[in-house]
Amino acid sequence: AASAMWGGRFAGGPAAIMQRINASIDFDKRLYAQDIRGSKAHCRMLVRQSILTQEDGDSILAGLDTVLAEIEAGDFPFSTALEDIHMNVESRLAALIGEAAGRLHTARSRNDQVATDFRLWVRDAVDGMDAALAGLVEALLNRAEEHAATVMPGFTHLQAAQPVTFGHHMMAYVEMISRDRSRLADARKRLNECPLGSAALAGTSFPIDRHATAADLGFAGPMRNSLDGVSDRDFALEFLSTSAICAVHLSRLAEELVIWTSAQFRFVRLSDGFTTGSSIMPQKRNPDAAELVRAKTGRVIGDLNALLIVMKGLPLAYSKDMQDDKEPVFEAADTMELAIAAMTGMISDMTVNAEVLRAAAGAGFTTATDIADWCVRAINMPFRRAHHVAGSLVKLAEDRGIGLEDLTLADMQGIEPGITAEAMAVLSVDSSVASRTSFGGTAPNRVREAVAAARKSLNGG
Ligand code: ARG
Repeated sequence: AASAMWGGRFAGGPAAIMQRINASIDFDKRLYAQDIRGSKAHCRMLVRQSILTQEDGDSILAGLDTVLAEIEAGDFPFSTALEDIHMNVESRLAALIGEAAGRLHTARSRNDQVATDFRLWVRDAVDGMDAALAGLVEALLNRAEEHAATVMPGFTHLQAAQPVTFGHHMMAYVEMISRDRSRLADARKRLNECPLGSAALAGTSFPIDRHATAADLGFAGPMRNSLDGVSDRDFALEFLSTSAICAVHLSRLAEELVIWTSAQFRFVRLSDGFTTGSSIMPQKRNPDAAELVRAKTGRVIGDLNALLIVMKGLPLAYSKDMQDDKEPVFEAADTMELAIAAMTGMISDMTVNAEVLRAAAGAGFTTATDIADWCVRAINMPFRRAHHVAGSLVKLAEDRGIGLEDLTLADMQGIEPGITAEAMAVLSVDSSVASRTSFGGTAPNRVREAVAAARKSLNGG
């Protein structure tokens, strides 16, 4: 039989395969709360504008509440023949209240309806992700504060470079995640405009009040162009791109956890709660959660790509292609929720092996830059020459199989007679990090300052 919703000009019903490719109810049922909220706002406005009678309006609102309760109770008969969440809700409303249900769709199209529902959903997802990221920042800040002065090797090329503090390393991620949060806030501003009332594409001849429905739904105002209102999905793309960038940050931290928990590094130990064993090798404590955060980043990047590609060739205004906007967004939101929670758990629970970090901090001649800097500062040597002197000291220590700090003053003076006993002090990893007091540097006091500033802005300061 032809569709009750749009079948007027059809004699026959859709082929089974047509129904399968066309139906979105299996995934867009997740929009039910937004769909009903949007319909209620639309209905209230129609009554206020005398487009609907108070009586019809009241029965629609009561009916929609019943539908909502049925869905939430888990006993709603979702139907593939009814294609999507919008027609499932409306058809159930008709079964509950009769003819008046057919008046709800006055001055509205599924095109502006779905764009509105989806914006409401993404707005909630943005808020949820932001709250989760605030929790992760808090966890990172706690570890940073605890380990503001814990020395560790800083790397470039994954080769020991210069000593840094573990707190400084954690704070680097606080910066990244904080920028992700600011991208979310920025995206939220742009998405917070209401497409409802764009109707199918051209607006409507009914005297609707778009400002009222926008305000009712918590939007800053109505979208200014009806064609744009029903046909762009940049708000979803911004959510996905922000998610993808954030996922890349999580993935890099996850990668570091994988490296740091290896027997070769032993920088940190993940808790039992965030590791798994091996069914054959009894000694194993595998960082599966970190590996999966790293892996799932691929999905989120894929979700962004998927929707960019769906959108790139579409002429204005709505095309059914746009129904495929939802699954990538749902997948990315679910994946991010899981990844952020797992990362927060790993960071909160991990044990930081300060002694191992300290021993590693000095390995690989990481204070070579400090001795070069000393030559510049104390005996006014040009940096290029100082670099050479320090390089010769490294070679000497390396040939002897000892660390820079194990060289004697006589050893050093054999290479550069200007070096004095005072130079020996700069070779320790503690003095190295303590000396890095430039703004944004790794000196423990700078790290403590950075933690305090980040805490303040986390608490809305
Ligand atoms: N399920 C559809 C979607 O998600 C709703 C809009 C349908 N509009 C239409 N013109 N067929 O995009």
